[in-house]
Amino acid sequence: MSETLLELADVHLAFPSRRNWIGKVTEQVHALNGLDLTVRRGETLGIVGESGCGKSTLAKLLMGMLKPGVGQIDRSRLPGNRVGGSMQMVFQDPLSSLDPRLPVWRIITEPVAIASRTSERSRRALAEKLAQQVGVRPEYLDRAPHAFSGGQRQRIAIARALSSEPDIIVLDEPTSALDISVQAQILNLLVTLQRQQNLTYILISHNVSVVRHISDRVAVMYLGQIVEMGDTHQVLETPAHPYTRLLMDSVPRIDVPLGEAPQNTELPGNRQLPTGCYFRDRCPWAESACATPQPLRTLSGNQSARCWKAEKVIVSAS
Ligand SMILES: Nc1ncnc2c1ncn2[C@@H]1O[C@H](COP(=O)(O)OP(=O)(O)O)[C@@H](O)[C@H]1O
Ligand SMILES: [Mg+2]
Repeated sequence: MSETLLELADVHLAFPSRRNWIGKVTEQVHALNGLDLTVRRGETLGIVGESGCGKSTLAKLLMGMLKPGVGQIDRSRLPGNRVGGSMQMVFQDPLSSLDPRLPVWRIITEPVAIASRTSERSRRALAEKLAQQVGVRPEYLDRAPHAFSGGQRQRIAIARALSSEPDIIVLDEPTSALDISVQAQILNLLVTLQRQQNLTYILISHNVSVVRHISDRVAVMYLGQIVEMGDTHQVLETPAHPYTRLLMDSVPRIDVPLGEAPQNTELPGNRQLPTGCYFRDRCPWAESACATPQPLRTLSGNQSARCWKAEKVIVSAS
């Protein structure tokens, strides 16, 4: 097993959503509710779950843009142990994440300029090298982001993320804003770059098909928790948690992306957290024992699930 780069232990994070007249918080959105996660060098860790389950909050937390309310993030094994240099992020919408006023060669090398004093000439040369790696023509590097197509802009965002030679790249819905044909090109590019540069990816998507294609391991999120985790083929071929099964059932056989959230898996409010298993209200297999909170339990191999009935569910699924 390859070395652990990053570890999260029992991370909780809530946003204040309502205050009274003296400014006291009277209501919170519970975005992350006890998250344990390990990221290993060289892997693609897929994180899948429907809209609102806390994926982007997790991404921002990993990047140091948000602090956990409770729990720990251990970055001590990251070389350099620094956010910004050793971790970079690619967002869903490249147009809003790239500075519209700058020529793209400056955008691509921004992380390098922030991290160290580098001459304009060497930044330019680096931008040309990276442009070549991601499939952007070097002669277009003086243009601004709006002059490029969506797919090209996402290539630019990837080049930017690569520029500081990060150990981990967090990709938050990197293909969700793109046409289907372009989505595949970007995913293939990510796979190629990973092979060439021994990158570690955390790939976040609401779309099981996207995660299935390039992830080594998958974590399934529901209401700010990981409800199932394991090797991609295990989790997606023999899902153990009832939520994963519902998620898989709502994925069309041909790999068409999931547009809207599937109807029978709608999220309950994260303002008032459920007691016991968070999923029991909509679980077809729920029993009285599900009123107790469920820990993530190891089943077989690397697969684990937050459900006491998980083994029985696997059997009945096959
Ligand atoms: N800055 C914020 N302030 C208040 N609530 C937020 C904030 N960011 C996210 N949330 C809420 O936290 C929950 C998780 O959001 P998010 O992490 O964006 O989910 P996802 O990326 O899975 O769609 C949602 O209910 C969302 O409305
Ligand atoms: Mg999101």
